[in-house]
Amino acid sequence: MDASEVEALRAAGLAAFAAATDAAALELVRVEHLGRRSPLAEAQKQLGRMSDDERRSVGALLNGLKGDLTSAHEARHAALEAVELAARLEAERLDLTGPARRVRPGRPHLLTQVEQEIVDVFIGMGFSVAEGPEVESGRFNFDLLNIPPDHPARGTMDTIYVDEAADLVLRTHTSPVQVRTMLTQEPPIAVVCPGRVYRADAVDATHSPVFTQVEGLLVAEGVTMAHLRGTLLAFARALFGEDREVRLRPSFFPFTEPSAEVDVSFASASGWLEILGSGMVDPAVLSACGIDPERYTGFAFGIGVERVAMLRHGVADIRDLYDADARFLAAF
Ligand code: PHE
Repeated sequence: MDASEVEALRAAGLAAFAAATDAAALELVRVEHLGRRSPLAEAQKQLGRMSDDERRSVGALLNGLKGDLTSAHEARHAALEAVELAARLEAERLDLTGPARRVRPGRPHLLTQVEQEIVDVFIGMGFSVAEGPEVESGRFNFDLLNIPPDHPARGTMDTIYVDEAADLVLRTHTSPVQVRTMLTQEPPIAVVCPGRVYRADAVDATHSPVFTQVEGLLVAEGVTMAHLRGTLLAFARALFGEDREVRLRPSFFPFTEPSAEVDVSFASASGWLEILGSGMVDPAVLSACGIDPERYTGFAFGIGVERVAMLRHGVADIRDLYDADARFLAAF
């Protein structure tokens, strides 16, 4: 092998290594140009048969060729590894500049918030919480509250009957919880009764067949309408602001005598907005519930939670309180 043949092998080998585009192709080129059957290896095998002088000069040429081809292989190997690493880094890159996934914490429904606020005000005044079933007997929902069977409130128009023969209704107010309390506790009694109530109302912007009440009852010796008024004034101020006044207007409920609608002063509207019904517990109700009306007197009131929530937060349509629209609910 002479110098020009070695030069030709060098040129071919360097071109082949430079042209290899991946590890597998590079390995084929290596086998072809540096492997045991490569022209280089074959030429080296011939060295033994050469004269000392020839072996020295051709050996030096072949060693130079081998060194150059090996360097070309290593250089290409390193270059391909760098390309592969760059591709992997690109593919597996963590983009820490992207926006974080948003955490959206939940919260109690507006009605639950307002119900708890109302209840808290009365707890602050020494009342405790009493609860009862939503499926109630007509006896507790009506009879013991001085609402006779022919009273319009009992008609199928207003009351949703669960089982008329068994005298089971969906309670139309939480007053039966007050009945249950009077039947089981001795005065002094001071309870608030929060919960859902049901009436066969058509749905519109201010009516729903299911709504929420917080009713209250205080029975003790010497309770007067002044206590009722003072309690409700404290309630109105705690909830709507210390500058509020309350106004009692004569009204009628079968279970209270006298009865009063209670208005709270508002800067807007006509100046007054009705927020609840109230009155002195009718002596007939006290007797029916086993409490001596000669010794004890009491007052009661019933607050509509939806109405308070709508007034407080400017909600115009009661249906917004029952639709599960997260955009609306997230505002509170
Ligand atoms: N129970 C009455 C209602 O649901 C509210 C009320 C309670 C009125 C207590 C007066 C006294 O309409």
